[in-house]
Amino acid sequence: MKFLFNLLPRLSVFLLFGVWLIGPVKGQNGKAWFNDKDLMLVGSYYYPEQWPEQNWERDIKKMAELGFDFTHYGEFAWAAMEPEEGQYNFAWLDRAVELAEMNNMKVIMCTPTPTPPVWLTSKHPDVLMVNEDGRTVQHGARQQASWSSEKYRQYVEGIVTKMAQRYGDNKAVWGWQIDNEPSHYGKFDYSDNAQERFREWLEEKYKTIDALNKSWGTAFWSLTYNSFDQVQIPNGKVLVAQPNPHAILDFKRFHADEAASFVLMQQEILKKHISEDQWVTTNLMADYSMVDPLRMKELDFVTYTKYLVAGFDMGIGEQGFRMGAPAGIGFANDFFRPITGVTGVMELQPGQVNWGQYNPQTMPGTVRMWIYHVFAGGNEFVCNYRFRQPLTGGEQYHYGILKPDGLEVSSSGEEYVQVAKELDKLRKAYKPEAKLPPAFAARRTAILYNPDNRWETENQPQTNQWDFMTHLKKYYSAAKSFGAPVDVITEVKDLAEYPVVIAPAYQLLDAELVERWRKYVEQGGHLVLSSRTGQKDREAHLWEARFAAPVHELIGVKEIFYDLLPESRESIVSMDNQSYAWNNWADILEVNNKTEVWATYTDQFYKGKPAVISRKAGKGTVTYIGPDTDDGKLERDALKKVYQRAGIGILDLPEGVLVEWRHGFGIGLNYSSQNQSIPVPAKAKVLIGRKELKPADVVIWQE
Ligand code: GAL
Repeated sequence: MKFLFNLLPRLSVFLLFGVWLIGPVKGQNGKAWFNDKDLMLVGSYYYPEQWPEQNWERDIKKMAELGFDFTHYGEFAWAAMEPEEGQYNFAWLDRAVELAEMNNMKVIMCTPTPTPPVWLTSKHPDVLMVNEDGRTVQHGARQQASWSSEKYRQYVEGIVTKMAQRYGDNKAVWGWQIDNEPSHYGKFDYSDNAQERFREWLEEKYKTIDALNKSWGTAFWSLTYNSFDQVQIPNGKVLVAQPNPHAILDFKRFHADEAASFVLMQQEILKKHISEDQWVTTNLMADYSMVDPLRMKELDFVTYTKYLVAGFDMGIGEQGFRMGAPAGIGFANDFFRPITGVTGVMELQPGQVNWGQYNPQTMPGTVRMWIYHVFAGGNEFVCNYRFRQPLTGGEQYHYGILKPDGLEVSSSGEEYVQVAKELDKLRKAYKPEAKLPPAFAARRTAILYNPDNRWETENQPQTNQWDFMTHLKKYYSAAKSFGAPVDVITEVKDLAEYPVVIAPAYQLLDAELVERWRKYVEQGGHLVLSSRTGQKDREAHLWEARFAAPVHELIGVKEIFYDLLPESRESIVSMDNQSYAWNNWADILEVNNKTEVWATYTDQFYKGKPAVISRKAGKGTVTYIGPDTDDGKLERDALKKVYQRAGIGILDLPEGVLVEWRHGFGIGLNYSSQNQSIPVPAKAKVLIGRKELKPADVVIWQE
C-alpha cells in the first residue's frame, strides 16, 4: 500500500507528460551528486572580492592548470554583493563563476551570513550578539550576529534568496555551503534575542513552569521560578556560586538547536530556488562542543574543516607537532561520514597558518599525507584553504597554494599538485567491483556518541583532568591501531552491523538503551563500556538507587564507586602482570561471581578491587573499563583482549601508523616521527610510494 502511495505522484506526472521519472534520487543520502569513479575531487578557495579584477583570469587559470577540479566563492562577501541595503551587485561574482566554467572547474557557492555588512548592524544594532560580560559584539571581525535575531534572519533570507535565484540554475555551481563554521568560535550568545528564544524553547519542552522546576530540581538553593519569563540564560559571570547543572545542560542543547535552526532555515530557502543537481551543506569543526552536527542531519550532508598544526597538538614523537595526531582527520572522517553516509572536507590546512598558539612549518610531505587521510576516510572532495596567501587583513602569514607574489607555487601547494596527478593514476586503476576485504569487515567497530554525555560530563567534570573527547579518542585511536574501520554513530543506528560497539563515558541513559545493549550482546555483539557510564538519567538526575544501578546487571557488578587523584600522584592498575598508571578517573567495581576480573587496583584503600571486568552474555560479551589513564595503554590493551577473545583478527600497528581501505585501495600513512614498515599484503600491487615509510609518507596499493 505504502508503495502505491509513493508511486502515485510519479505515475500522474507520467500520465501528464509521458515521461517515467525514475532516475538517481538526489535526496538525503546525497550519493547521487558524486561519482565513485572520480574517487575524490580537489578544490581551492578563491575570494575574487579580495583581489584586483585584473588578477582573476590569471589566478583561476592557474588553479585549473595546477589540477584543481573546483573552487569556492562567496563566503564572506556580503558587503560586495549588497553594498547598500537593497542594492545588489552580482556582476563581479557572475564574472568569477564564468571564469571557473571557462577553465572547467566547478564552483561551491557559499552564503555570506557570517559577515553582515556594516550598514546592516549600524541600522539594527539589536541583531548583534552579546557576550558573557554583557558587551555587545561589534562589527570588525566575523560571526557577530545573533542566530536568534528575527531581524537578522530576515536579512539572511533576503541575501540567500537573491543568491539562490541567481545561481540556482547555473550549471557551473556544483553545490552550496551555508555560512562558515557556524559556531561563534566558542562564545555563547546572551543577547535579549537569545534570552527570549531560550525561554520559548524551555516552554516548548516543559509546557509548565512546575515541570521545569521539578526537572531542574530548583528547590535546591531556592531557585524556584514562578514563570518562564524569570528564567535567565545561566552565566557563571553573574553568579556567585556554581550554576544549576540542569539549566546549563538545557542551555547547551538550546544553543546547538539554535545553530542548527539557523543553518536549516538557509537550506530551506535555497531549496526553494535551486536545481536538484545542486547540493547543500555547511562546514563544521570536528571537535567543537557547542554545535552539534547531528542536529543538522537534514542537510544533504555535513562537511568539516580541519587544521592540525597550530601549536595545540604535539602529535606523536619528536616531530609530531609538525604533523598533528592521526585522530585529527581520522576522527573527523569517521564522525561526519556516518551522519548521512556522505561527507567532504571543506577546508584543509594548506601548511603554515597565522592564528595558532605558535605556528610551526608542517613537515615536508604532511599536507600530502593529510589529503590521503581525507581520501582514506571516504570523502567525496577536499578543498584547500586557500589559493592565494592574503596580503592584507586578519590572515596575513597564512599559507596558500601560491606564495605571496601570487605566481609561484608554495611548498604545500606543490604537495597538492602532486596529489592531483596521483589521483589521476588511481582513477585509472579504480575497480568498481572491489569489496571491503573480509579481514577489515570482521573488525568493524562503532563508537556510540551522544553530545549530552559530553556536555554533562564537562559541566560536572569532578576533576580538572577530565576531558570527554580525550577519553573517547583513546578508544577511537586504539581501535584504529588494530586496523579497524570505525563509525562514530548515534543511538538511532542499528548496532548489529558492528561486531564491536564501544560506548565511552556514556553517562546519560535510560532503561530502553540498556535493554538494546543487552539484546545486542545476547545476539553476539561485543560491547565495551567505560568510566562514568550509566550514572544518570537523560535529564542528568542521579538514580534513586545504587550508583549507576541501571548497568549493574549488564556489566555484572553489585556496586560501583569512583575515585580521582591529584595530578601529581599516580596509582597502578595491574592486568596480565603488567602495570598501568592512572590518575584521571577510576571506577572501582565489586563484581558478581560470574564476572571475570581482567585488571585490579594495586594500591589505595581499595587495593585488590576490580578495575576492568568482562562477562559473557548469550553469544556476546560485555567489558567494562573503569579507569581513565593519561597514555591510554590500559584502555588499548583491554580493548585488544576484547577483539582477541572474540576471535577477531586485528593488526597491531605502531603508534601513528594507519592502515585504511577505500574503493579497492589499501592506504598506509605514517604520522609517527620514525620510519615505519606498513603491512602491505604480499600479493598486493603498490601503486604509489613503497611500504617503508618515512615520517609523513604514504603508500597506496591494490589487491
Ligand atoms: C578556518 C575558517 C576560515 C579561515 C581559516 C584560517 O577555521 O573557517 O574562514 O579563517 O580558518 O585558517
